[in-house]
Amino acid sequence: DNLSFITIGQAADYAGQRVRIGCWLYGKRSSGKIQFLQLRDGTGLMQGLVARQDVADDVWEAARRLTQESSLYVTGTVKEDARSVSGYELVVEAIDVIQLAEPYPITPKEHGVDFLLDHRHLWIRSPRQRAILKIRAEIIRAIRQFFDDNGFTQVDPPILTPSSCEGTTNLFHTKYFDDDAYLSQSGQLYMEAAAMALGRVYSFGPTFRAEKSKTRRHLIEFWMIEPEMAFVDHEESLRIQERFVAHVVQTVLERCGRELATIGRDVSKLEAVKAPFPRMTYDEAIEWLRGQGFDISWGDDFGAPHETAIAEQFDRPVFITHYPTGIKSFYMKPDPNRPEVVLCADLIAPEGYGEIIGGSQRIDDPKLLAERFAEHKLPEDDYRWYLDLRRYGSVPHSGFGLGLERTVAWICGLDHVRETIPFPRMLYRLYP
Ligand code: 4AD
Ligand code: MG
Repeated sequence: DNLSFITIGQAADYAGQRVRIGCWLYGKRSSGKIQFLQLRDGTGLMQGLVARQDVADDVWEAARRLTQESSLYVTGTVKEDARSVSGYELVVEAIDVIQLAEPYPITPKEHGVDFLLDHRHLWIRSPRQRAILKIRAEIIRAIRQFFDDNGFTQVDPPILTPSSCEGTTNLFHTKYFDDDAYLSQSGQLYMEAAAMALGRVYSFGPTFRAEKSKTRRHLIEFWMIEPEMAFVDHEESLRIQERFVAHVVQTVLERCGRELATIGRDVSKLEAVKAPFPRMTYDEAIEWLRGQGFDISWGDDFGAPHETAIAEQFDRPVFITHYPTGIKSFYMKPDPNRPEVVLCADLIAPEGYGEIIGGSQRIDDPKLLAERFAEHKLPEDDYRWYLDLRRYGSVPHSGFGLGLERTVAWICGLDHVRETIPFPRMLYRLYP
């Protein structure tokens, strides 16, 4: 008769009805007369009740034999139950085992991080990892929505490139037939070309950095969103960035309440994240850090402890602007009033999550750009096309790059970026 194949997430719409669900056994306990099956199907968790007196012997036996992560179809009636997490449970009448799982390596006991990373393909089934991946997907959706709704066109830069964007020290090299190629560290230079064709553009893709840094903020392969905007100066770019980041955080708060609760995130910390964001110049930051007893001088770059100390003063992300020309990338436009600093900003997340955005106004003057190429000893031949952008209708333009995984780590309140991506590529870790 009337039997619907549903997901656990749809249970609320089927109260009182007979349904069939494809799922895995997450856990099980028994009172002797009733077996309580914790069922999961990717959309949620639900408890299945198998009552000794109500089911046939073979159903009772099947339930008894189920091991953790066995796959099955269950048939039963959805019942409202105020005590359960989802608000519903399933009164089971039949069980069709698809596969009885072998003894599952990830048990409810505490496992070390290396063990969990070796079993990442299974670890992602846990409610906590599932919640994080759901929030990551929601963050990606909110990112795209912001740019799609604000007149930006998505453009995909290449992954295999003949030259570097962010310096040559951490490039992944590969052969490209008889030539050399590198995995992209950033699509920015191509996005500058795209901005001259389409006005406001953004890319969203993987980037690669062979960085020998083993920190909680670094991945070897990470995803970056890179907007690039013609006729937009440094100041306007910052205003877009703060609206953008606030939109992402507020969207996650609206749509991911359940997932944020699953991972135990203190959402009051996120509620404050609204534009405008505070700003500090590099000069002010150096002076403040020295006042706090840090041993740092003008011209030094910030490390994680510096960024964390600065961020702790604020309840929302903070822009640090106007860094010294010498410690930033070759393409950044000098401040016309003070050429020793550039029109750039790093956006530092609260709570010690570090830099989530790096951005700048770009050099539009062909002569100055040529000088920078000489200073940085960049082979002009490899970048002829990039220099062309300054020869044929150069315009003021700005852009930035937001690191997806650091943003996920911050919004989820995670200790380490390794949990922010399904299969993290880290220093000395390529498996699974
Ligand atoms: O500051 P970065 O190096 O800037 C660029 O690549 C520019 N070309 C972007 C642009 O203007 N279009 O990197 C941008 C962001 C950082 O703020 C950080 O969030 C993230 O990318 N990031 C990393 N995330 C994880 N692991 C790494 N190894 C990262 N390196 C940078
Ligand atoms: Mg940076």
